[in-house]
Amino acid sequence: MVSKQKFIEESLALNLFFLRIIKEHFIFLGASLMLKDKQLISQAELFKNLFSKLLKQTLILSNGQLPSKVLKSNEYVTKYTLEAEKKTQKLSGIYIDSQLTLMQTSLKPKDDSKKCPPLLADEVYKLNNQIIKALNAVIKAKSKLLKDVLCCELFTHMYPSMLHHVSEETLYYLEQLKKIQCSPTADIKEVPISKEKFWNHIMEEHALFIRGMLDPSEKVLYEIADHFAEEFDKLTMEASDLSKITHAAPPLGAKTVRATTALRDFKSTATDGLLNCKIKSVILPLLSDHVLREANYYLNLLQPHILC
Ligand SMILES: [Fe+2]
Ligand SMILES: [Fe+2]
Repeated sequence: MVSKQKFIEESLALNLFFLRIIKEHFIFLGASLMLKDKQLISQAELFKNLFSKLLKQTLILSNGQLPSKVLKSNEYVTKYTLEAEKKTQKLSGIYIDSQLTLMQTSLKPKDDSKKCPPLLADEVYKLNNQIIKALNAVIKAKSKLLKDVLCCELFTHMYPSMLHHVSEETLYYLEQLKKIQCSPTADIKEVPISKEKFWNHIMEEHALFIRGMLDPSEKVLYEIADHFAEEFDKLTMEASDLSKITHAAPPLGAKTVRATTALRDFKSTATDGLLNCKIKSVILPLLSDHVLREANYYLNLLQPHILC
């Protein structure tokens, strides 16, 4: 019974975070393609819609099923998300269903005095399988895009390393979900050194993307982003060295939490600045909010387990 409950909570919490992330990757991709690539623009739109649908199903199943502290964690939406969606839709012309964000913020927390619906675990299991199928299709599509960009057959305003970055995040999500699906008692909130290495590298790339997408006149912000990139490069290497010694090595912990908190605060200020037209860049406000949520997700992983 406990493991069934854990399976439901771990699945729903993971899906609420990552389905939104994958849906947004396709918004950023759609906005970065050339007008002539109509087929790819339609493909990005189809994937965005598919992941919006899966997110809606997850939101419906999540109502009343997750502890309040999980719902309040700022990895699903931040105080900027709704405004960033509206602004990004206005700037890009890409439709963004903000109803999903409103659904997220109005989810009711779990009431421990109520029993879990008897068929919920089966429904979550079925949904997880649908998501796994969709993620496999996404991985195929993203790797074809990257291949075409690398052999100069396709042009996008998304850096090739950002295309690779979003593929890595998709793969990570797929692995975590498969882990839960195969072993309902698996603890995906555990942070072995290999996971810390992965997320430190993700944070490093966020800093590099921000640095590279700022207007050249934004010298102060450029320097700050550059400093974060260097710091996370070092942390990634340290984690990499530790992971060669043993899989069970203690994570870098406090050092990583400090650096990620500082980067998260920088991203938060940047999102606010972009929404208020105070920063010159080629960064969509929703992209800034997106990387902010990824930092929050990582911080929630690093700090004491919230699903216990
Ligand atoms: Fe992402
Ligand atoms: Fe990312």
